Amino acid sequence: MQRTDYCASFGANDIGKRIKVCGWAQKQRDLGSLIFIDLRDRSGILQLAFDENTPKELFDLAFGVRAEYVLAAEGVVRARGEGAVNPNLPTGQIELAVDKLEILSESATPPFEVLSAPDVREEMRLKYRYLNLRHPDLQRNIRFRHQLAKCTRDYFDENGFLEIETPILIKSTPEGARDYLVPSRVHPGSFYALPQSPQLYKQLLMVSGFDRYMQIAKCFRDEDLRADRQPEFTQLDLEMSFAGEDDVIGINEGYLKRVFREMLGIELETPFRRMPWKEAMENYGSDKPDLRFDMKLVDLSDIVKNSEFKVFAGAVAEGGSVRAINVKGVADRMSRKEIDKLTDFVKTYRAKGLAWLKGGEETTSSYAKFLSEEENRAIEAACGFEKGDVLFLVADSKNNVVLDSLGALRCKCGEKYDFYDKSSFALLWVTDFPMFEYDEEAGRYKAMHHPFTSPKDEDLPLLDSDPGKVRAKAYDIVVNGWEVGGGSVRIHRGDVQQKVFDLLGLTKEEANAKFGFLLEAFRYGVPPHAGLAFGFDRLVSLLLGLDAIRDCIAFPKVQNACELMTGCPAPVPTEALDELSIRVAITEE
Ligand code: AMO
Ligand code: AMP
Repeated sequence: MQRTDYCASFGANDIGKRIKVCGWAQKQRDLGSLIFIDLRDRSGILQLAFDENTPKELFDLAFGVRAEYVLAAEGVVRARGEGAVNPNLPTGQIELAVDKLEILSESATPPFEVLSAPDVREEMRLKYRYLNLRHPDLQRNIRFRHQLAKCTRDYFDENGFLEIETPILIKSTPEGARDYLVPSRVHPGSFYALPQSPQLYKQLLMVSGFDRYMQIAKCFRDEDLRADRQPEFTQLDLEMSFAGEDDVIGINEGYLKRVFREMLGIELETPFRRMPWKEAMENYGSDKPDLRFDMKLVDLSDIVKNSEFKVFAGAVAEGGSVRAINVKGVADRMSRKEIDKLTDFVKTYRAKGLAWLKGGEETTSSYAKFLSEEENRAIEAACGFEKGDVLFLVADSKNNVVLDSLGALRCKCGEKYDFYDKSSFALLWVTDFPMFEYDEEAGRYKAMHHPFTSPKDEDLPLLDSDPGKVRAKAYDIVVNGWEVGGGSVRIHRGDVQQKVFDLLGLTKEEANAKFGFLLEAFRYGVPPHAGLAFGFDRLVSLLLGLDAIRDCIAFPKVQNACELMTGCPAPVPTEALDELSIRVAITEE
């Protein structure tokens, strides 16, 4: 029962040919003396036709076909009748005059029509994910993902990288998120962790001399989900020996250039732009700025620091700032109601308010009356304010509240008011990240990337004097405001590593208990090394213009980390727990 080819592989050139196709009945239309069935396989659709020349038995069989029946059909390709040509379909000029039809399997009435899945509740779609996956959009996404993986392996292979698998059952590697734990049966009370990334193993592979490693690796992080996060996701992970920041960046620019060319037919200019973290934060209020449009943040602190208006002057006096964005030319599209909505929006970023100046027919403002004439003119000049513009200002004693809220507002306005071409791409390296972030709650520093990231050479003395100012040899690749990948040059000097552990509040004993094996390995000849990992799901989504990474994952999880189709996570029988010496502390309701 061999089929000739996929449904959508046939066209006008095949008219007169005898073929056999297999697939799913997408739709059956019964027009009395005519029956049409849209037969779907992974390539697309072919129309099956039954008419007055079809033997009665066969016609009756076709009459009984329902949505999602699995069929094999044989016949002769013919041109569609006049008026029946569908220019939107690759096979729109032809149909198959069927003379042999086999129902390979029937289908119960599906819970939703495959083609209408995008309008169906997500819960329903994910419960019947296998049906949802029949939709041509998801078929395309999954196929694209495969092609990208192939392109990836080809590129890195050609550049001397070896793909090496690292273990899934490991000792916990700290990357900032919570670990998924797996109990050991053989060692009661002990646990494996699922890797948050292959970080430590890839560094050990450098110690082993593999020199250039890559892997398309499954990673697991027990963290709160968002549209761009899954608990189980895939990284394109790589590491290079005898290499520094520029080498890693160079290889990956080559990779992205290849990907954009091969997958999208877009020629990227290299080298990509690079921007130090501080500049990104100051100008765009984000460490992953969307550079498809400008609208930079403007610091007004100096202008208002001595103002009578305490909301502004107070914020500066308390060590914070007052900053603004100028949303150009939108005054006539920005109603009071819209401003109220945006005020609520910035409040979700902990801003206490949103001050505005609107250059409509008349210029109106929420704050101008509290400032002197001079201060008002200075603000307008600093922001390049003109008639038609809307200025938004945020004041706060915490600088990061000002930056976060205006950074988010910038993106929101950029999108809402069409400040950029939605199909364009802006690629950027953000570099020179701070080495440490101060964790107010814990009262100590934590690593911004991870504890194996190297400080910049010129900042080494600051490890002793002013750790908060130390910059790291860390870099993120940012595309259209998404952090698509990140990496760093690693520490390969024992004394520097020790100092970093000290600053992170790790005692020698703790450091040894956690990563003793790595420190030990580094005693036996460690090459300088550096690497990077892309979020592979994010890369696929970005190239396809998807809003959420779950649309390029065959079987994704939902917000609360459940997989709705199989219904996991789920309780296990007590015997299974007994075997693992585990008792569950919650009582059944
Ligand atoms: P990092 O933690 O920055 O670095 O992760 C690298 C990239 O992985 C993607 N990513 C995710 N994608 C989907 N769901 C998630 N929950 C998720 N978390 C992260 C992001 C991110 O940029 N070992 C280091 C890399 C290195 O230093 O070489 C690491 O894992 O796109
Ligand atoms: P108020 O005096 O509190 O009524 O504030 C006057 C104007 O300043 C209003 O438009 C407020 O929304 C705005 N405002 C208040 N607090 C802030 C703040 N932290 N940042 C920016 N604008 C603010």
